[in-house]
Amino acid sequence: MTHATAHRVTSMPIGVGAGGGVASPATGSIRLAGEHFAAATLYLLAGSVCLVWIAPQLAAGDYLSPHVAGVTHLFTLGWLTMTIFGAFYQLLPVALGAPIRWPVLGHASFWTFAPGAGLFASGVASGSMLLHHAGVCLVAVGVILAVANVAATLPRARSRDVTWAAIAIAITYLSSTLVLGIVLLHNLHTGFIAGARVHVLATHLHVAIVGWALITIVGVAHRLLPMFLLAHGADSRWTKYAVGSLATGIPLLAIGLNAGLSIASWAGVVLLEAGLACFLYQASLFFRARVRKRVEIGMRFAATGLLSLVAAAVLGPIVLWEGAAQTRLATAYVVAGLLGGIVVFVIGFFYKIVPLLSWVGRYRGKASVPGTPTIAQMFSSRVAGAQLAGTIGAVATLVAGILAGSTTAAYAGASLFLASVLLFVSQIVRVARGGHFGARP
Ligand code: HEM
Repeated sequence: MTHATAHRVTSMPIGVGAGGGVASPATGSIRLAGEHFAAATLYLLAGSVCLVWIAPQLAAGDYLSPHVAGVTHLFTLGWLTMTIFGAFYQLLPVALGAPIRWPVLGHASFWTFAPGAGLFASGVASGSMLLHHAGVCLVAVGVILAVANVAATLPRARSRDVTWAAIAIAITYLSSTLVLGIVLLHNLHTGFIAGARVHVLATHLHVAIVGWALITIVGVAHRLLPMFLLAHGADSRWTKYAVGSLATGIPLLAIGLNAGLSIASWAGVVLLEAGLACFLYQASLFFRARVRKRVEIGMRFAATGLLSLVAAAVLGPIVLWEGAAQTRLATAYVVAGLLGGIVVFVIGFFYKIVPLLSWVGRYRGKASVPGTPTIAQMFSSRVAGAQLAGTIGAVATLVAGILAGSTTAAYAGASLFLASVLLFVSQIVRVARGGHFGARP
């Protein structure tokens, strides 16, 4: 790669600026984002190790098992929520022109949330009241501080577009997730909601996965997909339809499930399906409008995550139709949507954001110094390709194993997922150390 090309690659922006132009990474918040991304990577690894441990329970469709609930939160709190917080600290100043209101609070949120997620997950999995109480207190403080910080930052934004609205809606859903989670946690050792548990659990997980994680993804992808894909001129109206439909579908589904009103549940399902369809259509418009025909590895992960969301969207209505007794179907639905869909999509964005931030932190101003790698050389695209192939095989095997009730297939899928994540972690370690793959410029 020539110096000129290297410079082009290294001066790539992290977000589309508030005025619609491009802007550079917010160097002031690189540390804040970096600590979140580092902890998130460790949680992804811990979750993947424990996925092998819970493979038999997944194959049996035992989603009410405390082991499954504990491990789920290594992925949802540890990997997803931590990554989203880190991304917000970069994105808000750059994409929305809103400097973080209280950076110190961002660090305080990190130092409560990061240990809290681990204590909470291990407390739930082991049935230890002391651990999960300590964990949930720290998680609650971490979430409240982060939500307050983001909420106080949003009014400073120069641009109040659909990304802005999506973030505002998503942090509201995160707050509801926390409340519902605390109710469920209290129920674990008191049983006070008795038979309503399954419906409250279904509400909690849809509020969390769709309201918090997916709406964030839809809003952030609106800015970042065109930039990562170098896509110009795509019709981008579909994001607002997606956000509107998803945001209204969740309360309808919640009312339907908890009040036993099946008409409301089905109306909720229709809105959620429509919202996802709008998002997929929007993403396909961005992919089609890309200038460079070759799709980079991060975007291939994102596309794989989207396909897995389609699988979950097919399973979702069948789960509602069949009812809670079909526990393997319900488990396969959540694994396809959460692990194969959301977790994998976020890995794709991680591949785009983290090498860039690491490069800026380490090499900014040194692009023309001999021996300085380009961003593309911060990790190995061959290893990333192997990781993607492994991830696709892993999720397909795991979901098929759960549907078929095969413990062997579930073990195979979970082990392959772990192997793929180990490749990912090796890449991120190289990136953090200033990695150097391929020919030097
Ligand atoms: C904010 C703090 C949170 C708390 C206190 C919390 C608490 C809980 C508890 C206690 C359960 C077990 C319920 C039971 O088995 O009856 C549970 C299940 C679940 N939660 Fe959360 N949660 C939180 C955040 C999240 C987030 C952010 C997500 C997703 C993005 C999420 C996704 C799930 C899922 C998928 C399950 C079902 C796991 C299973 O099948 O066992 N949670 N949550």
